[in-house]
Amino acid sequence: MGEADGDVPAYEVRLARIGEEDAICAVCREGFAASSEGLLSPATIGRQSALYYEPARVRREIATAGDRREWQGYVVAVTASGQVVGAAGGGMAGPTVGLVLVLYLDLALRGRGIGSALLDFVTTQQRETGATEQWVTVTEGNELGLPFYRARGFVARERFPHFVADDGTVEAHALRMSRPL
Ligand SMILES: CC(C)(COP(=O)(O)OP(=O)(O)OC[C@H]1O[C@@H](n2cnc3c(N)ncnc32)[C@H](O)[C@@H]1OP(=O)(O)O)[C@@H](O)C(=O)NCCC(=O)NCCS
Repeated sequence: MGEADGDVPAYEVRLARIGEEDAICAVCREGFAASSEGLLSPATIGRQSALYYEPARVRREIATAGDRREWQGYVVAVTASGQVVGAAGGGMAGPTVGLVLVLYLDLALRGRGIGSALLDFVTTQQRETGATEQWVTVTEGNELGLPFYRARGFVARERFPHFVADDGTVEAHALRMSRPL
């Protein structure tokens, strides 16, 4: 269990279990919406959330953790009473390249080290599968995410058009950031 420090609840970080998919979707939807506000349209936020943070999909992604190097499974921060307060997940994009694909936290608990604990778990998984570098894609302007990744040693390497509509309109740019492991 993590340290029960002041108002930080005791929690553990571990692979997610079947039955936790609804709670994972709630944390991810809320975190994605909050970190995308003013950057992406409500329609895009709704579409992305419905696609990725959908209980049946997440349930499958829990069940298939570790079957493929590209997806190493959902990881959760869970309090002693069983409440999911954060979720993460990553995979390998090549023999030595790890990707952080998901990282969200109950926003009321930001700034207490839980995000770092989730990232550490994913990083350990990736080191153990040969990663020597780690990448993440963050929407440009996401001030709930970018400072965290900078604090953890990630540097922006590339900027690219993100969320391109059918008519070619670019809604936002994103940054590909990386750090050596
Ligand atoms: C990103 C997120 C998971 C970080 O989790 P967290 O538990 O708040 O982060 P931590 O408490 O572990 O903070 C780690 C470091 O980041 C820094 N940090 C985090 N957010 C910051 C911010 N908004 N501004 C400045 N520094 C920040 C902290 O100061 C800390 O640095 P230190 O350890 O060197 O002092 C969480 O804030 C979140 O869910 N944000 C919204 C969703 C999001 O943007 N996710 C990423 C999408 S790609």
